[in-house]
Amino acid sequence: MERLFGRGAPSAEYTHNPFPDLDRLRNEAPRYYAPDRDAWFFSNPNDIVSLLRDDRLSMGDRISFLDHSAMFRTNVVRPLRTWFLSSEPLLLKIVQEVVKDCLEKLATQKDADLVDAVARAIPSNVMAELLNIPRADLSPLLHLAEDVIRSYDINWSLETEQTNKIGFLTLYFQRHWRFASDAPLLKFLRDIQVEHSIPSDHMVDVCVKLFLAGTTTTSGCIANILGCLVAGPGYEGSIREPSVIDGLISSQAPILAVKRRVREAIEFGDITLAPEQKVFLLVASANRAPVSDGEKRPPNLTFGHGQYYCLGSALARLEISALLNSLEPIMPRFRLREAIKWREAWLLHEALSVRITLEEPKAC
Ligand code: HEM
Repeated sequence: MERLFGRGAPSAEYTHNPFPDLDRLRNEAPRYYAPDRDAWFFSNPNDIVSLLRDDRLSMGDRISFLDHSAMFRTNVVRPLRTWFLSSEPLLLKIVQEVVKDCLEKLATQKDADLVDAVARAIPSNVMAELLNIPRADLSPLLHLAEDVIRSYDINWSLETEQTNKIGFLTLYFQRHWRFASDAPLLKFLRDIQVEHSIPSDHMVDVCVKLFLAGTTTTSGCIANILGCLVAGPGYEGSIREPSVIDGLISSQAPILAVKRRVREAIEFGDITLAPEQKVFLLVASANRAPVSDGEKRPPNLTFGHGQYYCLGSALARLEISALLNSLEPIMPRFRLREAIKWREAWLLHEALSVRITLEEPKAC
């Protein structure tokens, strides 16, 4: 067990498939304490649900919004959640156009990296439409986002230490907030600012977080799903079926753990969580826990749980469903050209490249 979450890089086997190790941890040490990190790792679903409801654990600024006040959550976060849920027709139109465009370009290529051509292209182009980001800016912004997502991992050697470029993204969105012309989401946020007199730096932070969360997590999930489809069916049924889509999202989400810090001591069964300790809630492992006969199935934790439940889950589902609904005609042409490259990380499981050759379409 000591091997897991150590100070060194994870092994190639772990980065390729962390689930055997995480399943073992859940079975043998579901409340695991790593002394050298002064950190707890939880993988039992009921423990995680209960801890995600416990406000004696705090959330970091990098993951949620800078402003943690109840007022900000009422005036900004709650309406934003409603906006994503109630804007489905608009979001669907944007998503379908982006997916169509992306697959049409892919169909003309002989070789492609599905991560760049599809997994990163779809969510970033959708966010560009929603926030009116010029396409030419996307590539540098995604580079900065990549550094931020790397720093989400627990630090090991110097690899993940302070590579955070969130400051540059903030500078970009400060200008963008002032000068970009309205786009659907940007306009909604500007209206909220006027209605509730929110300081601009908090609204800029909302743009940064929406851009980061809206691009990196969905692209990781799409990359893993494509890797799974190309490497051989890791599912049963048609990829157009909603239950298959939900199963793929849940099994292929890139976030293995959500993070918290202990604010006030918590007596938790036979253990005590002390103030300032770090807490890693292994949601991806908990989702895989078997449910015994007659036992109530715990909530699915792919998009988190409780007050910080993912704000963009509906958009992520739309993007992934639209892609899987359109993929069947072109998928038989995909041949994996080289081994999938995986992100070296303990808390993120993500295909970084899925290189394929596209065979000529078969004549009818
Ligand atoms: C498959 C794709 C996605 C996955 C797996 C995912 C997963 C998650 C998880 C697990 C959390 C909870 C974090 C925690 O409790 O620490 C979260 C929060 C969040 N997500 Fe997502 N997410 C996805 C897509 C998106 C998209 C598309 C957006 C925005 C457009 C988004 C925006 C957010 C935001 C803003 C939060 C923080 C919510 C808050 O502070 O109340 N996510 N996400």
